[in-house]
Amino acid sequence: MKDDYDFDVKKERPEERYKNVIDYFSGKILSKYATSKSMMKIQEKITIRALELLDLKKTNCLILDAGCGPGFTSIYLKEMGYNVVALDIISEFLYFYDLRELNPIAADMCLLPFQSNSFDAIISISTLQWIYRDINHRKMRLRLLNLTKSFERILKPESKIIFQFYPKNNEIMEEIGKFFTHNTELNGNFVIDNPNNPKKRKIFLFLRKGN
Ligand SMILES: C[S@@+](CC[C@H](N)C(=O)[O-])C[C@H]1O[C@@H](n2cnc3c(N)ncnc32)[C@H](O)[C@@H]1O
Repeated sequence: MKDDYDFDVKKERPEERYKNVIDYFSGKILSKYATSKSMMKIQEKITIRALELLDLKKTNCLILDAGCGPGFTSIYLKEMGYNVVALDIISEFLYFYDLRELNPIAADMCLLPFQSNSFDAIISISTLQWIYRDINHRKMRLRLLNLTKSFERILKPESKIIFQFYPKNNEIMEEIGKFFTHNTELNGNFVIDNPNNPKKRKIFLFLRKGN
């Protein structure tokens, strides 16, 4: 998965300032995110692109939205006819909209509470940077290792994963790719939209189980 593409975001981002995601997404920040129409539009646009990259052949499949937040991606997927499980570690996010039909679950995506071979696809939008952002952090490495293993386990054979996320630099991005290729049998590649425009850059990691 080696990519010669170089970048390094200098600006300090919330995931660097806050040890736990729950300390950032609370109170006003949480409700501002959940009720923002522009955020909803942006995340929906990313979801459309993620679906394009996933290239699912049928709609009657079950997709896990891992780190769903208030459910922008899940709601769109449901509108498109997919069956969805919307999962986030912050339960308060799951009460902003009526997600009953999206099987909302409050859980840590590094410790997934599902049986093996349950899902046809996993989508995770703008979340992975909260889980892994420091290559020297032992616990973070362990959490990412758990994530890779449990994502692989809950996927049915011949199914796919798409992450869109905001790694701080190419070193972290590549390290995440290596975690999957070294610790699982998943294969994949990065797709980088607008690589030369830091404001519009979108990084996707596509992974496939089986051939
Ligand atoms: C920037 S928000 C993105 C939310 C949503 N995917 C979207 O596109 O609007 C990041 C989300 O990741 C969730 N998150 C972070 N770490 C998580 C974990 N370990 N397990 C589940 N969700 C997590 C946060 O609670 C938050 O809802």
